[in-house]
Amino acid sequence: MPKEKKVTTKKVGKKKKTVLKKKILNKKDNKQETKIEEGPVLTKKEKEEKKIDKKRKKATADWSLLRGMRDLLPEDQKYWRKCFETAQNVSDYFLYKKIETPVVEETKLFIRTVGKGTDIVDKEMYTFEDKDGKKVTLRPEGTASAARAFIGHGMWNKPQPVKLWYYSPMFRHDRPQAGRYRQFWQYSCECFGADDPSVDAENVLMAYNFFKDLNLPVQIRINSIGDPEERERYKQELITYLRTKRSYLCEDCKKRINRSPLRVLDCKQEECQPVIEGAPQIIDWLQEPSKNRFMTVLEYLDELGIPYTLDTKLVRGLDYYNGMVFEIYYKDQENETAQSALGGGGRYDLLIESMGGNHTPAVGFSIGVDRVVNLMKTHFKENNCDLPDQKVDIYLAHLGKDARRVALRLLEEIRGSGIKIGYNFFKEALKNQLEAANKLEVPYVLIIGQKELQDGTIIIRDMESGVQEIIDQKKIESHLKKKLKK
Ligand code: HAM
Repeated sequence: MPKEKKVTTKKVGKKKKTVLKKKILNKKDNKQETKIEEGPVLTKKEKEEKKIDKKRKKATADWSLLRGMRDLLPEDQKYWRKCFETAQNVSDYFLYKKIETPVVEETKLFIRTVGKGTDIVDKEMYTFEDKDGKKVTLRPEGTASAARAFIGHGMWNKPQPVKLWYYSPMFRHDRPQAGRYRQFWQYSCECFGADDPSVDAENVLMAYNFFKDLNLPVQIRINSIGDPEERERYKQELITYLRTKRSYLCEDCKKRINRSPLRVLDCKQEECQPVIEGAPQIIDWLQEPSKNRFMTVLEYLDELGIPYTLDTKLVRGLDYYNGMVFEIYYKDQENETAQSALGGGGRYDLLIESMGGNHTPAVGFSIGVDRVVNLMKTHFKENNCDLPDQKVDIYLAHLGKDARRVALRLLEEIRGSGIKIGYNFFKEALKNQLEAANKLEVPYVLIIGQKELQDGTIIIRDMESGVQEIIDQKKIESHLKKKLKK
């Protein structure tokens, strides 16, 4: 066995010590091969830190996230909060009522509604058997669940239309990449029981307003995919065309020609683009009533001043749609996020009926919040209009354990006044607490020391002038409100 021996320890001035290691590799032949290794001699503290670091790295590796899953971290919460508030405001204004449905549903719900042959059902569902042997799926989208809830709760009996919104996590076992996750959030609106084109326009308007209120420039792409008979006739025409171009298509699209030819129009592969460009357009296969209905929707959008482009290749990737469909994209095409849709929706007049319910025309949309948050972060920074971080109005500092007890009581007493207080009971020294207050850029710091404890008073320090006042603890709230003009 090779032996290892430490031979010397050197100290060069104030520099770190180095150690030389001599390895005797071949003792048998009496030949001594030596290898000198140099490395810093660590202090006890450094050794301890190295150990902790190693432990942390191991723990991090041991508890890594599942692929495609992510944590929504505190530093991004200002964007998430803004998205939720905006969604809530838009929905409230247009009189949509919030609904929450379970994350897990029976698998057949999605197979029947989203449809066999779609990427979602064929490739992306998180499906498993539960403990009762029932086949269940983590919802990949929410429209099917909303429709199930509409039927299950007999919402036909309510005044129509029934307008619902939700803001929920969805699950798709998709190939993860920028803006594509396996758990992602959608803000969605669904309107059941109204077939007037004004409701189509209302939905496009709501989706557009969500982005307008977030100051994100978007473009709406819109199309009509007609009713099932029109679509069937168009499909036959498309299949005939695609067969003649088969050799120019990607492998996936070759398979799609007979099974789901409309999906070819959705393909992003470069080789397929010339074929898609030359494909017949569904709009030419619509009968007068469908065409007129679609024209009316567009007239509404014109009236509302919503910029849109007619995208005759837009077909959407779910089976339940008919008539008007739309998608939302970021306007700045240079940006990589502009490539993926921020949201999409359309009419699905036959869905409830296909699930065994009464005929119930419906329309809705979903916006991918994760993509919106990514976009907010880049777009706001590029345009110097980032959302402000949460601010505090004052800082509450304390000196000693007893003062901390009173500080916590005061913190509770001021709660509800609308005054936001910064504090850190973990920091002991006043100097550290004042430094923290400085970083938070607060105009005033409240200080409770031993004297104030006995007097029932508190110091208010003006951080700019350094002037301090002493006031009665009982009057603190009214005093601060006056000072902060709250
Ligand atoms: P969808 O087009 O499948 O429609 O999804 C809507 C949006 O969800 C997409 O535009 C995208 O922003 C986001 N999204 C989809 N997949 C992912 C993913 N893997 N990672 C991050 N974001 C994603 C629906 O889901 C329909 N339910 C929309 C609807 C509602 N139609 C009528 N009502």
